[in-house]
Amino acid sequence: MPADNPSVIIQGLGIYAPERNVTNDDLSQVMDTTDEWIRTRTGIGARRLAAENEHTSDLGTKAAQAALADAGASIDEIDLIIVATMSQDMLFPSTACVIQGKLGARQVTAFDITAACSGFLYALETATRLLQSGSYGKALVIGAEKMSNILDWEDRATCVLFGDGAGACVLSKSDTPDTGILECILRADGSRPELLHMPAGGTAKPASKDTIDAREHFLRMNGKEIFKVAVRDMGKVALDVLEKAGVSPEEVACFIPHQANVRIIESMAQRMQVPMDKFLINIDRYGNTSAASIPIALYEARQSGRIKPGDHVLLAAFGAGLTWGASLIKWT
Ligand code: ACO
Repeated sequence: MPADNPSVIIQGLGIYAPERNVTNDDLSQVMDTTDEWIRTRTGIGARRLAAENEHTSDLGTKAAQAALADAGASIDEIDLIIVATMSQDMLFPSTACVIQGKLGARQVTAFDITAACSGFLYALETATRLLQSGSYGKALVIGAEKMSNILDWEDRATCVLFGDGAGACVLSKSDTPDTGILECILRADGSRPELLHMPAGGTAKPASKDTIDAREHFLRMNGKEIFKVAVRDMGKVALDVLEKAGVSPEEVACFIPHQANVRIIESMAQRMQVPMDKFLINIDRYGNTSAASIPIALYEARQSGRIKPGDHVLLAAFGAGLTWGASLIKWT
């Protein structure tokens, strides 16, 4: 990061996990699956599912309120709200605007970022740069997902993988040089969007009786292909961001990877030659919460004492788009 840019730090963190806990055994009561199949292939043991009247914006609002309390900041201090989500309350207005209203924020800048599971990293980098521009004081960056409403509960190959939740952070500037968000690399490759997408509901294929009958308003995924590119790209971008920052993998206290599949994380660790105990894993309790996965994992890493001031922390993600990226933080 150029020396003339102020440091941007995470001043507070908060999460919200819906109350309803659904285990693999619970799912096996209502569909043709088993705990053994899900656990051995993915590492998932349970996931939280939001209530019917709990929307993505409600999850995000609660996580944001928790982050503000953690930062000791008031909503009036926030100049920028960015929400990363692929399960927006509606196509428009943005979920960021809905959350702005629910938080009672001033009429500040608010917008969504759509980069699926990489969304939180895209939002974090965007907010960091906007804060460094000098036009904004503090930002709320939120990853929030109600995946359960965009899953095809008749497709056992996808519906068992995801969960609902939200995580948020308050970003602010610091006078201490070389601290906070140190480096970030974000990538995208749109040559094969069909690997992970929702076929209908946008302008390319508006909602119709046919699209509903064909169940095209739900997430569709080519799991095997996504698995391969995730292993290749997430490990590489993590090493690239470390090289850019001049920090070795050994100097990183904790790796926070997107929680999509524990086997993907194991392959990434192997590729990077980093022991698995340096990776934060909570997929067993939450499943894949898409854009919420990294802030929830980061929060849990801090709460459990795995991250201390001065530590290097590496965040890495991949998702639909395809998108992927990594961010290196020096914790404060
Ligand atoms: N329970 C029991 N059996 C199942 C289930 C289930 N829930 N789902 C599928 N099966 C069966 C299949 O029907 C198939 O049976 P068959 O051999 O008789 O045809 C068998 O299990 C194997 O299925 P595969 O799809 O080959 O299973 P695979 O070993 O590839 O694992 C998985 C699937 C877990 C989805 C894996 O491919 C994966 O994790 N991919 C990465 C997905 C991912 O990370 N997605 C998130 C991206 S991030 C984002 O942007 C949202």
